[in-house]
Amino acid sequence: MGKCINVVVNPHTMSEQTTARERLGSRLGFILLTAGCAIGLGNVWKFPYMVGQYGGGAFVLIYLIFLIAMGIPLMSVELSLGRASQKSPSKMYYELEPRGSKWHLHGYICTAGCYVLMAFYTVVTGWIIKYLIDTATGRFSGLGSQEVADAFAATTSDTAICVGFTILVVIIGFIVCMSSLQKGLERISKYMMGLMLVILISLAVYCITLPGAGEGLSFYLIPDFERLMDAGLFKVIVAALSQAFFTLSIGIGSIEIFGSYLDKKNSLLGESARIAGLDLFVAFASGLIIFPACFTYGVEATSGPGLIFVTLPNVFNNMPSGQIIGVLFFVFMAFASLTTVFAVFESIVSNTREMFNWSRKKSALINCVFMCILILPCALGFGVLSGIEPLGAGTNIMDLEDFIVSYLMLPIGALIFVLFVTSRYGWGWKNFLEEVNSGTGLKVQEWMRPYMTYFLPLVIIFVLVTGITSFFI
Ligand code: ALA
Repeated sequence: MGKCINVVVNPHTMSEQTTARERLGSRLGFILLTAGCAIGLGNVWKFPYMVGQYGGGAFVLIYLIFLIAMGIPLMSVELSLGRASQKSPSKMYYELEPRGSKWHLHGYICTAGCYVLMAFYTVVTGWIIKYLIDTATGRFSGLGSQEVADAFAATTSDTAICVGFTILVVIIGFIVCMSSLQKGLERISKYMMGLMLVILISLAVYCITLPGAGEGLSFYLIPDFERLMDAGLFKVIVAALSQAFFTLSIGIGSIEIFGSYLDKKNSLLGESARIAGLDLFVAFASGLIIFPACFTYGVEATSGPGLIFVTLPNVFNNMPSGQIIGVLFFVFMAFASLTTVFAVFESIVSNTREMFNWSRKKSALINCVFMCILILPCALGFGVLSGIEPLGAGTNIMDLEDFIVSYLMLPIGALIFVLFVTSRYGWGWKNFLEEVNSGTGLKVQEWMRPYMTYFLPLVIIFVLVTGITSFFI
């Protein structure tokens, strides 16, 4: 239960309180599950192509600063809210907010954020599974670079393929969330994350021994501030911070839910640092695969979102044993994105369970049907709906949904969470400090209070405003 003395006992949450809340089986399960929520396309797809576009090592440096200085404290905020309230985001505020306040409206926005994120995330996950099958069956073997690019356009514009694979991802995801927390989600995520890390390390070791690795690694790791200025300093700063939020899934309550399944044995700043460390490791190691491979085979590393689907199949075509390496790479990507899908679906299932008093199974089934409809605009956005260009010429529905989540919901959500825990009109610093520091491990210190109360919100507001304006100007 919340530690706040001015807790509201809300009738909507009463029946849930009579049922014992599910718990995660182990600390390892918690760390891998929460890291699985964080680690995904953001690490293996967005991070490498952003590094390529925004000045290599200089971008990595700025990103690292944001991840440590902002990502870790903000993650500990979300986990504290979950652990103190023992509720999903949709009901968490009712437990912790002062009587008569309206913070709880944000709980519903968090739920909406999870739906919008999954509306496009599952589509890209569907493409990855299709690419895994295509690579395994040799569809790209012997194709030239233009033919590989045409194959990507053909995949994304094909209604049956796009919708079919996305719905497959949605169904698998809700099946996993249908059984109990420990036997379903926790167990599967643990195995998938373990296997994913083994494949990742093997591929990274292989790629850094390729003949062009040195050049690729210096592009990746040595900060080049000239290249950074060419890309535009503000643009790079905004991109680095929104990437830090995206990669840690901060701001829409998908991390909060795992705090709500947690006991009080360990302090939450330490747990957040471990999760962010794993997340960083995966993003960093993905770059160790991609850049040495691109430089070795003379393929452009700055090609943007198509990097994974257009550039890499070319690389695998040229590599000795490229088909096997390609299959391993897409298995790794599929696991990374599926663990995120499972975790965010868990947040969705839990939110609606608590909102409507549904069983886990009923919530998973209804959400599965709803999600199959919600993915349609994005899944069709590269084919029959490609005429819709919501953010200007050349953009698509996925760009719009990504913009809503990455540039609006995640930073605004993070801002509201941090204001809630630092303001006396919200949950308040004392309650937060007591919760976040319960257990052994790294603690939030009193000196961090002004930092979290003023500095973090100001940086988020600055980046939010700059991000929105730079998008439209
Ligand atoms: N945190 C998730 C990712 O990085 C959304 O893919």
